[in-house]
Parts: sequence; C-alpha cells; structure tokens
Amino acid sequence: VSSDAASAESWTLGRMLEWTRQHLKKSGSETARLDAEVLLAHACGCPRIQLYVRFDELATDQQRRVMRDLVKRRAAAEPVAYLVGHREFYGLDFIVNRHVLIPRPDTETLVLDLITRARRVADPRILDLCTGSGCIAVAAAAGLPTATITAVDISPESLDVARQNVNRHVDSNKQPIAPRVTLLQSDLFEAVPKEEFDFIVSNPPYVAEAEVATLAPDVRNHEPLLALRGGSDGLDVIRRIVVEAISRLKPRGELLIEFSPEQASAVQKLVTETGAYEAPTVLQDVERRSRAIRAIRLSDKPA
Ligand SMILES: C[S@@+](CC[C@H](N)C(=O)[O-])C[C@H]1O[C@@H](n2cnc3c(N)ncnc32)[C@H](O)[C@@H]1O
Repeated sequence: VSSDAASAESWTLGRMLEWTRQHLKKSGSETARLDAEVLLAHACGCPRIQLYVRFDELATDQQRRVMRDLVKRRAAAEPVAYLVGHREFYGLDFIVNRHVLIPRPDTETLVLDLITRARRVADPRILDLCTGSGCIAVAAAAGLPTATITAVDISPESLDVARQNVNRHVDSNKQPIAPRVTLLQSDLFEAVPKEEFDFIVSNPPYVAEAEVATLAPDVRNHEPLLALRGGSDGLDVIRRIVVEAISRLKPRGELLIEFSPEQASAVQKLVTETGAYEAPTVLQDVERRSRAIRAIRLSDKPA
C-alpha cells in the first residue's frame, strides 16, 4: 500500500484488497484472501461482507495507514485474530490478545459434548481448568442458563481477557452470564474452593517439548508458550488433572479433556490406570480425529 501521493487517488478498497492478498500470499499465508478481507474490514470498521459493495470506494489516509501496519505484521506471521483483537468460537465473539491462546474450532467438540451432557443435569456445577480467553466457560454459560461455572487459569493476563469475555455475553434468556461465572487465578485445582463438580472440563497445554519447534510460526512465535507446552510428552498437565479431578468430581461426575489426536491412547491409559473412572469415551472432532476424552467418575471412590 504505497504512500506515494501520486498513486493515492487510485487506491480503491478493491485494489487494496487485491494488493494485500498478493502480498500475504507471497509472505507465506495459506489464507491470504481471507486474511486480506478480515484486515481490510477491520481497517474500514465494517463487517467483512460489506466490503463487496465498497470495492470502488477510495481508501482514506487513515485506512491506508492502518492497513500498512496490519499487513506488515501479518506478513511477519502475527495471527489475524491478534491483529483485529477478536475471534469467533462456538458462534460467539471473543476478545483475544497475545496473552491468550486463540480459540480453535477443535475445542468446539469438547464444548458441544459438555453442553449436551450438562443439559440433563439440574443446575450443573462446572469447573473449567486452563480457561485462557474463557471461551469454554463462556460458551457453556451461554448455552446452559442454570449452570454455575468456575474458570481458572494460572496467568493473570489471560484472566483479564476472560473477564472481558465473561462480562460481554448473555445466555439464551438474554441474561448476563457474569453472575454465574467465577474467575480464579489458580495452578489447576490449588485455589479452587473444596466443592464437588458435576463436570470438570479442560483444554490444557498439551504440546510435547520436541513438537514446539515444529509448530507453525504463527503459533510458535506469537501464541503464549504457557498455553502450549505440556512437558516432555505433552501430558504433564493432563496427568495431574486426571488424578486430581477424582476428589473434585461428584460420584458419576464427568471429566472432559482435550488432547492432540496422537495422544488418545496414552490419555485413555492414564484414565484407566486410576481405577476411579468408567471406561472412557474418546470424542472425535469435525475432521474425525480423536480430540477429547470423556471419563465418568465411578460412584465409589477407590480406597
Ligand atoms: C491450551 S490453552 C487453552 C485456553 C482455552 N481454554 C481455549 O480452549 O482456548 C491453556 C491455558 O492453560 C493455562 N495454564 C497453563 N498451565 C496452567 C496451570 N498449571 N494451571 C492453570 N492454568 C494453566 C495457560 O495460561 C493457558 O491459558
């Protein structure tokens, strides 16, 4: 997007979109067209779909300045969600920044299962460990108007983001969810008051140490390592959750944990070894990959 005064007049939004698409494609983005549309819509302050009726409009100096900065940062692999400060998850809009993992469609598998199962429980009590942006807790609170939710994260910066998200959403009865969601800074269960939950859910950090270096630059260089690193085999946090959840679940309470597809059998084994859960169920994501586990606590805790 040249700042050359001579070419300024010809910078229509349509031309700027095409220039941005080409530039981002050359810089390695596999979603260059979508990126270009999202960034331009952000610079213009309009929904993406409206760009299509504004292609002939001349860009203002301010729009061109904003685009120059956004395109430069996107070309350096900064995720679009951080650049525009938002990401859609489970049909809801979430504020995000570099302190939180960007919510992934993969995690919708867990949320869908949680909401479906929790609908059968009167006034379900839910604990969301490793809440990050708060996307799981907020989606659950929005979809379950009688649920009470505790959401924890070890990072105060991510709890700030989660708080903003909790404060801006309503449930299916148009009531604010905030009175039903408690946010807590905690190392997993450590600061969680002693009560028993119907559901404990988590999308914890689960990337194995050797895998971190192989992640896409968007993820590796921009998303918080605290949200990704799960120790040598990626299972450090999951291992703790599987064991510690036993004493925090009601009898027949349910544990739902996300993992990466290649960890499915290891996580199943961890659950089975405790002797405290029924045979677990592995849940598949939309691409039919094993993505999460559901384990129901046996009625009698092991001695
Ligand atoms: C993979 S992100 C998931 C964020 C969000 N739940 C989601 O699905 O998008 C993992 C989160 O766990 C948090 N975390 C890492 N270790 C933790 C611990 N020991 N106790 C609590 N939270 C932890 C990180 O700060 C990060 O926000």
